[in-house]
Amino acid sequence: MFISLLRYAALTAATLGALYLGLLGLLTQPFFQAHVVYLNAIQMTWFKDLNIPELFGFLHNQVTPFHIKTHDGETLYTWHILPVGLYRKHEEALNTEPSGSVQDITSRLGFQLLQQDPDAWLIIHMHGAAGTVASGYRCPNYRALLAVQPDHIHVLTFDYRGFGRSTGSPSERGLITDAVTVIEWAMNAAKVPASHILIYSQSMGTAVNMASAEHFVRQANPVIFAGHILTAPFVDAPTLVSTYSIAGTIPLLGPLARFPVVFEYLKNFVREKWSTKDRIASYVHAAEALSAPYRITILHAEDDYDIPWEHSTTVFWHAVNATKADGMTREELDEAKAKSRVDLGAAGTVMQWRTSHGIIREEILKYGLHDVIMGNPIVTLAVMRIFDSHGSR
Ligand SMILES: *[C@@H]1O[C@H](CO)[C@@H](O)[C@H](O)[C@H]1NC(C)=O
Repeated sequence: MFISLLRYAALTAATLGALYLGLLGLLTQPFFQAHVVYLNAIQMTWFKDLNIPELFGFLHNQVTPFHIKTHDGETLYTWHILPVGLYRKHEEALNTEPSGSVQDITSRLGFQLLQQDPDAWLIIHMHGAAGTVASGYRCPNYRALLAVQPDHIHVLTFDYRGFGRSTGSPSERGLITDAVTVIEWAMNAAKVPASHILIYSQSMGTAVNMASAEHFVRQANPVIFAGHILTAPFVDAPTLVSTYSIAGTIPLLGPLARFPVVFEYLKNFVREKWSTKDRIASYVHAAEALSAPYRITILHAEDDYDIPWEHSTTVFWHAVNATKADGMTREELDEAKAKSRVDLGAAGTVMQWRTSHGIIREEILKYGLHDVIMGNPIVTLAVMRIFDSHGSR
C-alpha cells in the first residue's frame, strides 16, 4: 500500500516535470513565445460587438470607433471617447449622428470638438497584453481618466496589430510603429499639441509607452509630451519572464532560479527584449539634455500577482540614475528614499524625484492588484497632478 502510494507520487512528479519541460520547450519557439507574451488571441470581449460601446457602459455616441492606418499597411481599431461635460453640451447633436464605426472620423462632431478646442487635452491609452480596447478593467480605466476634468479631457484608445479588430500580428517593432502612428495621428490629424498629450499605459502597454517616448524625444525634431503614466511596468521581457507566474500562481522559470546557467540560457531565448529600464533612462537623458519639462509617474500595487511590484522600483531607479551625470547606485537611492519617501499607511508609499525640469514619481500602493487599480481614483489623481504641474488645466 505504502509502496504503491510512493510509486504513484513519483509518477505524478515525473509527469509534472515532463509537462513543465515540454512547456519550457514550447516557449523557446518564437510562435508560442509571441502568443505567451502578447496573449492577443485571448480577446475576452468575444461575444460583444466593440462597435456598440454602449455595451460597455458608455453613453449613446460618446465613443466613436474608427480606424488609423500605419505606414506598413496595418489598420488599427481605435476609439475616441468624449468627456462627459462636453457630451452634455452637445447631447442633442451627438444623438442624431449615426452610431457605430465611421469611415471618416473628421466628419464627426466629437472629432471637430477635439480639434477645435485649444484647451483640449488628450490622453492616449496603451493597454496591456490580451484582450481588446473594451476588456477587463479598461473601460473603468477610461472613466477614471475622464473624471479628471469634465469638458476638455478626451481619451484615445486603440488595439495594437493582431489584437481585437486590428489587422496583422504583434511584434515589438510592430507595436511601437502602431503607437507612434496613433500619436502622430493625434498631433497631425486631431491637431493636439504634444504639450497637451499624456500617455497612460498599463502592464505590457508601459513598455510601448516608454518606447514611444524614447522614439519622439530622440528624433531630429525632439518631441516631449505632457507626461507618461506607467501602471504595473516591468524591467524588461527576460526579467519579466523569469518572475512571471501563470495566472498569478505557477512560477514559469522560478523553479530554475537555483540553476543560474540554465536560467540565463533560457532567458536568452526571449527574443523581444522590451527594455523599459534602458528606454526610460534614454528618455530621461534626452529630456534633461533638452531642458524640457517632463513627467513620469509609476504606479504599482504590492498585491499585483502578475508582475511583482519590485519591477517598478528598478524602473524608477534607472530613471533617477539617468538624471545624474555620474549616476546613482541603488543603495544611494535607498538612502534618499529613507529620508524623503512619504508613507501613506494603508495606501502605500510615494517617492518623488525632482530635477530642474523633470518630475519622476514612484507610487507603490498596498492594494490594487494588477488591473483593478486602473479604475481607481489614484489614476485620476495621477493625471490631475501632471496636468496641474504644467500650470494649465
Ligand atoms: C547610471 O548612470 C551612469 C551615468 O550615466 C551610467 O554609467 C550607469 O551605467 C547607470 N547605471 C545603470 C544601472 O544603468
